[in-house]
Amino acid sequence: MRCLLTLLTLLTLFSSSTAKDLETYEINLDLDPSVRYAGLFDLPNTNFNETVWKFYNDYFANDALLTDVLYGIAHKRGFENEEQQAEIQGLSDMSKLPLPFVQGIQMLYELQTIMVPIVNFTKSAEEASKILPEEYKALSRIPWRGPGCTGIIARASDNTVYHARNLDFSPVDIMGNLVYNAVFTKNGEEIFRSQMVAGYTMVITGARFGDDGYAIERNTRYADHKGGFEEMMKNLFSGRNLNGWSLRKILEETDNYDDAVEQIESVEYTSTEYAIVSGVQKGRIISRNPDNVAHLQILDQPNYKERSDYIIITNFDYFWGDVREWFDPTGGNGMFHPRRIAAQKYLNNTVEGEITYDDLWGAINDKGVFADTIFQAIINVERGVWDVSQPDVLPEGQHM
Ligand SMILES: *[C@@H]1O[C@H](CO)[C@@H](O)[C@H](O)[C@H]1NC(C)=O
Ligand SMILES: *[C@@H]1O[C@H](CO)[C@@H](O)[C@H](O)[C@H]1NC(C)=O
Ligand SMILES: *[C@@H]1O[C@H](CO)[C@@H](O)[C@H](O)[C@H]1NC(C)=O
Repeated sequence: MRCLLTLLTLLTLFSSSTAKDLETYEINLDLDPSVRYAGLFDLPNTNFNETVWKFYNDYFANDALLTDVLYGIAHKRGFENEEQQAEIQGLSDMSKLPLPFVQGIQMLYELQTIMVPIVNFTKSAEEASKILPEEYKALSRIPWRGPGCTGIIARASDNTVYHARNLDFSPVDIMGNLVYNAVFTKNGEEIFRSQMVAGYTMVITGARFGDDGYAIERNTRYADHKGGFEEMMKNLFSGRNLNGWSLRKILEETDNYDDAVEQIESVEYTSTEYAIVSGVQKGRIISRNPDNVAHLQILDQPNYKERSDYIIITNFDYFWGDVREWFDPTGGNGMFHPRRIAAQKYLNNTVEGEITYDDLWGAINDKGVFADTIFQAIINVERGVWDVSQPDVLPEGQHM
């Protein structure tokens, strides 16, 4: 924390930027998986080990009800695939955190799908505990909320495709201190890059650059029907790869947009999720069910009546009028003021075809859009742009 404050002070002194840069870390895929993250613990300006321990001590160490259920699910699911499991084991060995804890954290996107952020933290836990089967009720005590998010793909005034993203993830004082920028390499060369959260082995916002490259953003999507929870648990126990691992492998093995999209739309997911994929002159938002695609929004097609130069998603199937969007309190204007509508209002103030980088940056920083935001990105694959940063003003009450 001291390091972070120093960094902030330095940035304030030497830059007028409102965002702070991320530490970049190379993940060398040629190394044995168990040692790939070794250097992460020594990165200057970070304190990942202390932060994950704080997360564990504050929320798990003294909550036997929660850890029993979380570790039980991890145990019943069993080990991940060999490569991922070796990474997890390495993280547990180096941090000295219990293996079942590190294992359980890997399921955070999947488990979050049961925690619809209705009304507020307390209420949502209550609501969730009502719908959860008895044996999983303690899951309503998982401490993280999010990843909530905003993703926008736009054809900009220079006729290239831009991609803007907020990653909203609380508790901000923990999650905000675990974010870093990873460059995955083989033979000393970058294969793809991703924004990461220390301790979690999967991509969250990734890009594979190149003439026909692509960028992927993941957003939490809640189940759209009763029984969604049971379906997700069944998939967890069936041993399907976790969503983020499938996406990481696609980024590693697939160098072009069309093949990547084809795989993102067909690979088995463990839970519902949105994939926001942008490329050279292309973009689409894929709403995934575990076994199929629920909905597609494709850039340049008439997704909205009057304009077709952008597409947007937060965490709700607004195209089907999902009312839960209205009860999400996380945007700066509170409940009944969805983040998605605030962003659209902002974008609708531009002339069609004239959206700029600054408009996108403005949209994701609009009061009604910004939530527990711990990471922001503006990406343009065609132009090789990967502008990733963290807001240096954390939401009120969350100052470190
Ligand atoms: C991380 O912190 C734990 C608990 O303080 C300690 O036992 C462990 O050695 C630390 N790991 C590293 C790599 O610093
Ligand atoms: C959140 O919900 C709880 C339980 O319904 C309520 O007591 C509390 O006042 C609510 N807080 C806010 C900020 O709305
Ligand atoms: C923004 O513009 C689109 C296209 O005209 C329209 O469908 C949408 O309702 C508008 N949203 C807001 C919040 O202004």
